[in-house]
Amino acid sequence: MGILDEIKLRKTFGIISHPDAGKTTLTEKLLLFGGAIQVAGAVKSNKIKRGATSDFMDIERQRGISVATSVMAFNYRGKKINILDTPGHKDFAEDTYRTLTAVDSAIVVIDVAKGVEEQTENLVGVCKRRNTPMIVFINKMDREGKDGFDLLDEVESKLDMSVCPLSWPVGMGQRFKGVYSLYENKLILFSAHGKQNEEDTLVIEDLSDPILEEKVGQELADTLREEVKMIKEIYPAFDQEMYEAGLLNPVFFGSAINNFGVKELLDCFVDIAPNPLPRETEERVVNPDEKKFTGFVFKIHANMDPKHRDRIAFLRITSGIFERNTNYMHVRQQKKMKFSSPTAFMAEKKSIIDEAFPGDIVGLYDSGNFKIGDALTEGETLNFKGIPSFSPEQFRYVNNANPMKSKQLQKGIDQLMDEGVAQLFTKEESARKIIGTVGALQFDVIQYRLEHEYGASCSYEPINIYKALWLSWEDDAAFAAFRKRRRSNMAVDKEGNPVFLAESKWSLNTVIESHPEVKFHDSSEY
Ligand code: G4P
Repeated sequence: MGILDEIKLRKTFGIISHPDAGKTTLTEKLLLFGGAIQVAGAVKSNKIKRGATSDFMDIERQRGISVATSVMAFNYRGKKINILDTPGHKDFAEDTYRTLTAVDSAIVVIDVAKGVEEQTENLVGVCKRRNTPMIVFINKMDREGKDGFDLLDEVESKLDMSVCPLSWPVGMGQRFKGVYSLYENKLILFSAHGKQNEEDTLVIEDLSDPILEEKVGQELADTLREEVKMIKEIYPAFDQEMYEAGLLNPVFFGSAINNFGVKELLDCFVDIAPNPLPRETEERVVNPDEKKFTGFVFKIHANMDPKHRDRIAFLRITSGIFERNTNYMHVRQQKKMKFSSPTAFMAEKKSIIDEAFPGDIVGLYDSGNFKIGDALTEGETLNFKGIPSFSPEQFRYVNNANPMKSKQLQKGIDQLMDEGVAQLFTKEESARKIIGTVGALQFDVIQYRLEHEYGASCSYEPINIYKALWLSWEDDAAFAAFRKRRRSNMAVDKEGNPVFLAESKWSLNTVIESHPEVKFHDSSEY
């Protein structure tokens, strides 16, 4: 099979949701469909439990286990589907943001009772920056929740999506009878506990067919007819191009735990989800069907075993064929590297592979050479775009607690930052180092890992920072004047880019207003 055929087989996507909406359950059901796992619970047991934040080691341990589920590949209807796992835990949101740079589409899970929640908004926002095509799955229809139209309104307003329902619920909670697929003109009747039979699916070409009453009763039949009519009037019809451009979002309803509406979602996904897409670099656009291999690292996972310092770098193949034991160029370090045991992930199994194709994710054993965003090529210099840093939410000064170990501390901090555990800023005024993280948990993780993996120790000191903002400007002299005047707020990130550390939302607004010569950005790529 040629590379073009291989590309056409692949669909690489991520499932995103606010914790508890049902991402893990849905992932598991999808894997069951693909035969990639045999029993329910296989993914669930790897889930990072919520509410365990007091014991970060436990979370890190679970995270270690969850390497196995970082990528889950399965075959369905002849397609090779890669699900990239995104940690739902808020403290690992950065990880999730970066993983989303490696997907070609996403499924957004929303809890019918809770509607659009904070983490859903953040993650969808990240996908929207890259125009990632997204399908919405409204979950837990077996429970009482919000009215379907109200939910669609909420999705449109809070997530800034243009929706097109491809399935519609018949009743809800106790009265949940099933869903009507507008995509396939089928009524799928609900029976709890995931035992859908052939006869539970009825093809209904015309909704006025009295079989509808027979199956769901007069009242729900009338409501469905009315609502489907409204849907057709209000919402745009599905349009492949619009969906692929990230401008139209199909919506499905179902209940993951009952394995209901999941097959319809998956069947539609397989039909419409994009194959591996081109990727932008600073130099040019990389197309998947190019002959030469290229790829980028989007995630680095430390081995939790302190005896082995090695890490796994996750590489997304963007073009050509990646081959084992072949020399490739590590672009940032301008050096050649080859990999004797690149790993592919097949749900519960890991295996060494000889080759991988665009859309695939390969795990590379790494002893500290990689950092997030690094490119591998056959020699060409490429810098992949779309892997920005976002402003952390928590900041602390980091001090060396053992002056005899300053080298170790430096190395440890450098490597942990390369892994993307947190971000490091250096204040311009004092040269003091500040660590920024998404969640407080990360500070404990860093302290622990510095001690156990690098033999260094650090202490933290509070600092009052609300946000870190990256800056752009046109007039160098005007920017230099700004930088001098606001010296006490200025820092540089790890790449040496100037960053403004705002103390509060209010003070930031004042600075933005009084300095129109400088543009403030909430991510390192703008
Ligand atoms: P997450 O990965 O998005 O955090 O969510 P997860 O799948 O773990 O689901 C969160 C909770 O919601 C779980 O219950 C799960 O069983 C439940 N759930 C998922 N899908 C449905 C659904 O369609 N209907 C209903 N009623 N519940 C659903 P839990 O009690 O927290 O965990 P567990 O004891 O079931 O493992």
